[in-house]
Amino acid sequence: MTFRSVFIAVFIGTALIVAAILINRARPPIETAQPAPEYVRASGKCAGCHSKETSAIVHQFSMSAHARAGITCYDCHYPQAGQEQFTHNGFTLAKTLTALNCAQCHSTEYDQFLKSRHAAPAWAAVRGEEAFTPEQIAFSEKYHEGAVKRPPNELTIAQWEGVLELGCESCHAIGKPNTDGSIGSCTHCHARHSTSIALARQPETCGQCHMGPDHSQLEIYNESKHGVLFNLQRSILNLNASPKNLTTRDMSVPTCATCHMSGLEGMNVTHDVTERLSWWLFSAISKKRPNYIMGQEAMKNICLKCHAKPQVEKFYEEAEVVLHSTNKKVQEALDLVAELRQEGLLTPEPFDEPIEFLAFDMWHYYGRTAKHGAFMGGADFVQWHGNYELLLHIVEMKDMARELRAD
Ligand code: HEC
Ligand code: HEC
Ligand code: HEC
Ligand code: HEC
Ligand code: HEC
Ligand code: HEC
Ligand code: HEC
Ligand code: HEC
Repeated sequence: MTFRSVFIAVFIGTALIVAAILINRARPPIETAQPAPEYVRASGKCAGCHSKETSAIVHQFSMSAHARAGITCYDCHYPQAGQEQFTHNGFTLAKTLTALNCAQCHSTEYDQFLKSRHAAPAWAAVRGEEAFTPEQIAFSEKYHEGAVKRPPNELTIAQWEGVLELGCESCHAIGKPNTDGSIGSCTHCHARHSTSIALARQPETCGQCHMGPDHSQLEIYNESKHGVLFNLQRSILNLNASPKNLTTRDMSVPTCATCHMSGLEGMNVTHDVTERLSWWLFSAISKKRPNYIMGQEAMKNICLKCHAKPQVEKFYEEAEVVLHSTNKKVQEALDLVAELRQEGLLTPEPFDEPIEFLAFDMWHYYGRTAKHGAFMGGADFVQWHGNYELLLHIVEMKDMARELRAD
């Protein structure tokens, strides 16, 4: 390198540094202290560093509808009222992001979500009412009487250390109260950075929580004609179609989201997953919900976008027959345990005698499975995982009762 070229390089370098300092001085101080979203958008400052630091996040974000709509990293990450903050390379960011960060732009979805059992009732199912404010309890009780005002679940005392957090709470956190006064999280279904509707329409997304013997919805779906067809045709369906004009041409096969949430052909999208239900299937003894008629109408209207009326009516009639016969079998088991307790043959504590576990399994596993199978088209779940197990367990329970009484 000649003396001349070194001189030029040093000269240009110094000039650039001086220019940078001058430009920085000229910028209003507010921008360096607390940059406005417009500035972040223009400078791409977060993405600049983060494409080196946590590049997967930047890739996920760049695929999102948010990136296309000009939303920035900072739009989500800046603190909302009541959120803890920290300083990060000159930016003030929220320490934890919650549904509140999304609700600033999506209040309709948040309000619907709040009315559903995915909100406060989901958390109260495990932890009871303790962490909620009186206003939050009053709000949710208006829609779901007794679902928030209740004690922590009996099973929470029977968990090993760490299990409650990574077990019950990971699924039920969909409705966990946040310290900023909001409830729940949107990212269980949409993820944090792709914020995708295609993801939310995938059965596996719901199946993260809706699976296993106590709520085998994913397994039932996969066995149903709907699930089998979907698994064959998913690559030719348009899972990215905008909810505002989703048609059966985009998705001629329903997923969980289609039946429970989607705005198919002019119907309203709902984030209240309770809206289209007519029975409390998860209960030991299933009863009609208060909005039985409207709930059932709403779901049938979805079926009717793809099916003829007689087929849908027949489907519901047959499912309700299974529901009533399941109720009868479960009632028999619950009565038996109640009688033994009255006779002083069982302690008042729950879950300390084998027959109590059997009675619990009767409704919590097999009863629910039979009912869910009947309403979502899972023949094997109605019969072998449901009805057969109910028969077997009632025989075992009667045998145990005979022994207890003989002793
Ligand atoms: C000067 C480079 C730089 C800039 C600018 C920057 N970040 Fe970071 N950020 C980092 C580094 C480095 C980490 C730490 C990564 C690690 O721990 O592996 C980080 C971590 C984070 C974390 C995780 C923090 C935690 O404690 O869990 C978040 C959230 C974050 N950045 C968001 C942003 C947002 C939003 C912006 C823009 C408003 C931004 N960052 C701008 C470099 C930067
Ligand atoms: C749609 C809202 C949204 C946008 C836009 C967004 N984020 Fe995030 N980000 C989140 C949420 C939600 C979390 C989870 C935070 C939590 O759990 O407290 C998160 C977490 C992070 C983390 C920590 C993740 C980890 O796994 O360690 C980093 C780093 C981050 N974001 C960087 C960015 C960057 C860089 C951008 C822009 C390219 C960006 N975010 C845009 C919502 C968003
Ligand atoms: C600053 C405003 C803003 C924030 C904050 C924000 N969004 Fe959005 N969101 C938008 C806009 C604008 C669109 C694009 C709307 C359109 O294309 O019709 C959008 C679209 C969406 C979509 C539809 C995506 C699609 O493919 O059609 C989802 C889902 C979504 N946002 C979820 C979230 C979630 C979850 C959060 C919080 C983690 C969040 N948003 C935070 C403004 C925001
Ligand atoms: C992070 C876990 C999680 C995910 C993901 C999830 N759910 Fe749920 N869901 C729950 C929990 C927990 C409940 C039980 C709430 C209660 O009644 O206590 C529930 C309840 C429901 C109910 C019954 C509501 C009622 O009124 O009884 C429906 C329907 C439902 N979810 C549908 C869906 C659909 C559809 C998806 C996917 C688009 C989904 N869920 C994703 C955890 C989840
Ligand atoms: C794999 C995710 C997952 C785990 C782990 C989990 N649940 Fe659930 N739970 C759900 C889903 C999904 C429902 C909704 C079932 C339905 O409506 O059919 C539910 C329903 C319930 C219900 C009935 C609804 C209500 O509001 O009364 C209770 C009670 C409950 N869970 C308590 C617990 C407890 C306690 C634990 C831990 C011992 C636990 N759950 C572990 C996902 C989970
Ligand atoms: C073809 C439409 C359809 C599909 C697809 C579907 N469901 Fe359902 N689902 C129903 C019907 C119908 C009911 C019973 C409604 C009632 O109570 O009247 C139901 C009930 C439920 C319940 C029971 C709530 C309770 O009371 O215990 C949950 C939870 C649920 N579905 C989740 C899911 C999940 C998760 C998937 C996907 C893995 C799914 N559903 C797929 C139609 C569907
Ligand atoms: C149980 C899963 C689930 C949760 C939790 C959830 N969403 Fe969604 N969301 C969906 C599904 C599924 C769709 C697509 C509906 C359809 O197919 O028409 C959707 C669609 C959307 C859209 C696009 C709506 C439109 O009309 O274009 C926005 C925006 C959105 N969600 C925001 C949110 C926000 C904000 C939260 C948190 C308060 C949230 N979502 C929580 C499943 C979920
Ligand atoms: C988005 C369209 C769509 C929706 C919504 C929908 N289905 Fe289907 N369903 C289908 C398709 C497609 C098939 C396969 C039809 C065929 O073989 O021609 C099917 C098959 C079925 C079958 C099996 C028929 C057989 O002979 O194998 C039943 C039962 C059924 N649906 C009931 C329902 C009920 C009940 C609802 C509402 C709770 C519903 N479906 C909602 C598209 C839909």
